[in-house]
Amino acid sequence: MAASRVLLRRGAAAARGLLPTHAPETTAARFLQAQHHSSQSDSAASKPKRTKTFSIYRWNPDQPEKPQLQSYEIDLGECGPMVLDALIKIKNEIDPSLTFRRSCREGICGSCAMNIDGDNGLACLTKIPSSSAAATTITPLPHMYVVKDLVVDMTNFYSQYKSVEPWLKRKDPPPIPGKEVPQSKKDRAKLDGMYECILCACCSTACPSYWWNPETYLGPAALLHAHRWIQDSRDQYTKERLDAINDEFKLYRCHAIMNCAHACPKGLNPAKQIESIKKLQLQ
Ligand code: SF4
Ligand code: SF4
Ligand code: FES
Repeated sequence: MAASRVLLRRGAAAARGLLPTHAPETTAARFLQAQHHSSQSDSAASKPKRTKTFSIYRWNPDQPEKPQLQSYEIDLGECGPMVLDALIKIKNEIDPSLTFRRSCREGICGSCAMNIDGDNGLACLTKIPSSSAAATTITPLPHMYVVKDLVVDMTNFYSQYKSVEPWLKRKDPPPIPGKEVPQSKKDRAKLDGMYECILCACCSTACPSYWWNPETYLGPAALLHAHRWIQDSRDQYTKERLDAINDEFKLYRCHAIMNCAHACPKGLNPAKQIESIKKLQLQ
């Protein structure tokens, strides 16, 4: 308040021509600014720390030790709100050897999938649990081979995706040569709930049937994509696609346990798509 009065008095004096217009005002403004900054840093210093412990799976293939959970403490007051923010802070400021995948930071690339406090999810879309009392445990996607720390080997998952031939297959050329194949809005809407999949593998790695038969059961993600192309009005290999997965293991290991729908961070329901494939197989 005192500083404001000084500034006002100086402003009035300058207006009356008693003071030079720039220098003294600048000095007063600097004084006010310095006061503001010091009160800001005072309040930051007086804020109690909100310490949170993260217990993170560590394993390095180049070292003989068994995997272990390593604890890291960070101040949530100096960290973004998401689990990925905490991992990046730990990597940048505490332990650069911590290894995890991430790219987009907004739930689009699917690369930051991991298990957080027992649930599969994307670290960039999962808020840090507000309770600072309990540690948050972060482990790799379950039942996957670990490459290092939180990075898992996705080779089998991707080859299963590739096996459903996830691209448009036609027997006839497009109606107008060299142009795209048109699709009605109604037919396009049939792909809703499937085209949004980002191949994060949260669903497949939450599926007990996939845990026990990872080589032979295609799993919810690959089957969701198989159905996406079966339903595409422009594709002309529907029967061949259905025949290719009409297999005791590839398709019928799904027992409608629904873990996949619970795990999907994009709100998709692979179990429903698998059910539709099974119905089409009966027709
Ligand atoms: S519904 Fe099928 S695919 Fe989904 S978790 Fe259960 S068994 Fe796996
Ligand atoms: S269906 Fe959902 S959980 Fe499964 S891979 Fe696609 S986005 Fe991820
Ligand atoms: S960083 Fe891309 S989905 Fe999380």
